[in-house]
Amino acid sequence: MKIDLCFSQSQLDEMQLRDKNVIVIDVLRSSTTVVNALQNGAREIIPVGSIESAVKISGSLFGDVTLRGGERNGKIIQGFNLGNSPSEYSEAMVRGKSIIFCTTNGSVAMVKSRYARAMAVAGFVNMSAVVEFVRSLQSDMMILCAGRPPVTGGFSLEDAVCAGMIVHQLSQDKSAGIELTDPSQAALSLYKSFGKSILKMLKNTDHGRYLAEIGFAEDIKLCAQVDTIQIVPVLSGTSIKLKKDGTGSHEKEAPKSLA
Ligand code: MLT
Repeated sequence: MKIDLCFSQSQLDEMQLRDKNVIVIDVLRSSTTVVNALQNGAREIIPVGSIESAVKISGSLFGDVTLRGGERNGKIIQGFNLGNSPSEYSEAMVRGKSIIFCTTNGSVAMVKSRYARAMAVAGFVNMSAVVEFVRSLQSDMMILCAGRPPVTGGFSLEDAVCAGMIVHQLSQDKSAGIELTDPSQAALSLYKSFGKSILKMLKNTDHGRYLAEIGFAEDIKLCAQVDTIQIVPVLSGTSIKLKKDGTGSHEKEAPKSLA
């Protein structure tokens, strides 16, 4: 099983992910928010790549069963119901709801994975469930870190360390025949250097410091929790839903209203 990795979604085009098995990571905070929302009973997350797409799609759907969530510069988008704090996506708020989800990097990475064979969303919070999911696929894997915008270098340490933890756990099974590419070996090494205290690492990242500055220090604590949630969000048609059974392979319906 070959584990490849991309440190920033901005380095890849969606066609390069076509028919691949993809794990999307945006620890701070989109992946953690998506995992939390589905854990709390959201019906589905519909990721979009721009505010314009969110407004367009919700034009026909917006009502008491559909919410708009997301951020720009970490803060709630004007006219949206929810920002990008995992804690906002409580059961009372999201149970049974479809959530149109627009964030700076995370939802863009999810949209870019729309032609994947299978796609799952990972954070530290659902680490073991994701590792189990990858093992069940028994197939090559691309780990896609959302990263940061290209203007800030594209790289984010927290996503790389989370990816490295997945690589580390997969590599524990010597019989699995895991083959690591250079980027996945680099992520593994980063995990070994920075993974001893996830909270400390997150607090010291560029984005962690920024989130604390704008008043979201509590979010960092939530995003630092490891294995508190045992679910895997997977791509299903046009949206991301709770994986129920089977391999989680993306059903080939004629979807693609992800924009
Ligand atoms: C993103 O998608 O870039 C992030 O999740 C930003 C955030 O912390 O809200």
